[in-house]
Amino acid sequence: MSSLSLFLTIIFQAAFQTSLGRRGGIAIYWGQNGNEGTLAEACATGKFSYVNIAFLNKFGNGQTPEINLAGHCNPASNTCRAVSNGIHACQKKGIKVMLSIGGGIGNYSIASAEDAKNVSVYLWNNFLGGNSSSRPLGDAILDGIDLDIEHGSTQYWDVLVRNLKSYSKRSRKVYITGAPQCPFPDRFLGAALNTTLFDYVWVQFYNNPPCQYSSGNTENLKNYWNRWTTSVNAEKIFLGLPAAPRAAGSGYIPPEVLTSEIIPVIRKSPKYGGVMLWSKYWDDQSGYSDSVKESI
Ligand SMILES: *[C@@H]1O[C@H](CO)[C@@H](O)[C@H](O)[C@H]1NC(C)=O
Ligand SMILES: *[C@@H]1O[C@H](CO)[C@@H](O)[C@H](O)[C@H]1NC(C)=O
Ligand SMILES: *[C@@H]1O[C@H](CO)[C@@H](O)[C@H](O)[C@H]1NC(C)=O
Ligand SMILES: *[C@@H]1O[C@H](CO)[C@@H](O)[C@H](O)[C@H]1NC(C)=O
Repeated sequence: MSSLSLFLTIIFQAAFQTSLGRRGGIAIYWGQNGNEGTLAEACATGKFSYVNIAFLNKFGNGQTPEINLAGHCNPASNTCRAVSNGIHACQKKGIKVMLSIGGGIGNYSIASAEDAKNVSVYLWNNFLGGNSSSRPLGDAILDGIDLDIEHGSTQYWDVLVRNLKSYSKRSRKVYITGAPQCPFPDRFLGAALNTTLFDYVWVQFYNNPPCQYSSGNTENLKNYWNRWTTSVNAEKIFLGLPAAPRAAGSGYIPPEVLTSEIIPVIRKSPKYGGVMLWSKYWDDQSGYSDSVKESI
C-alpha cells in the first residue's frame, strides 16, 4: 500500500469511528451481596473496566469509620483484608478499583472543613497510598475514592474531594469518581462536582422518575444526559442503570431499548464513558452486561 493510500485509509477509519461514536466501558458496583462471587471473580469475567467496592457507610462527625461488605466478610474480625487479593487481581487486568463511600444505608456526614480533612487523611492511610495498622481491605492500594452520597450533610464534600485529590501524584494518581442522582444539579455532590476534580461520574438514572427512562419514553433521559454532559467538567460521564428490574425501584431499561435507542444518541457526547450498573449481584441474575456490552 502506498503511503498516501495508507494515510487515506487511516483518515477514513478515523472518520468512520467518529460517526459511529465512541466505545465505552462498564463500571460495576460490587460488595453489597455475599452471593455475587468474589472481587477477583468479578474482574475475571472480563466484562468490567471499573469496579466500585460498596461501601464505607459510616464516617464523618468524628465517628470511627466502618466498611460494610454485606455477606462477603466481617470487618470486625478483619476478614475483609482478604479482598486485597481481588484488588491486585483486578488491577493486573488494568481494571480501576475504587472504594465507594456513602450508599443508601448508613451513618455518614461531614460536619466541618476539619472533619473533611480528617476523613481524607483516614481514607489515604487506610485505603490509598498511606499506611495504618487497621487497613480494612488489607495492603492493596486502591485507585481512588467513589462518592455515592445520598443523605447526611450537603456541605463539605467539595472540601473532602480537594483534600483527597491533593494526594494525587504523577507517579500514582488518586482517582475521584461519583454517583450523583440524575436530577440536576445534585443536592449533595453539586459543589464537589464543581471543583472539576472528578475523573469519572456515573449518574444514577434510576429511582428518579423525572430524569429516567420510563415505559418507552427516552426523552427525559436524553435531555438530562445532555444537561449533565454539557454542564459537568469531568473526564468521562457514564449512564448509571439498574442491572435488573428488581435492582432498583424504577428506571430499568430493557437491553434492546438501551442498545438501539439510547446508546447511539448518548455516545455522541465527547464525555461518554459507557454504562455503570448496579450491581454485580443483579448482573449475575439478569446477564444484562452480556446483552449490552457489544453496543457500549
Ligand atoms: C480531627 O483529627 C484531630 C487529630 O486526630 C482531632 O484532634 C480532631 O478532634 C479531629 N476533628 C474532628 C472534627 O473530628
Ligand atoms: C449516627 O452517628 C451519630 C454520631 O455518632 C449518632 O449520634 C447518631 O445517633 C447516629 N445515627 C444513627 C441513625 O445511627
Ligand atoms: C508509614 O507512613 C509514614 C509517613 O508517610 C512513613 O514515615 C513510614 O515509614 C510508613 N511506614 C511503613 C511501615 O510503611
Ligand atoms: C456549580 O457551578 C454552577 C456554574 O458556575 C453554578 O451555577 C452552581 O450554583 C454551582 N453549584 C453548586 C452546588 O455550587
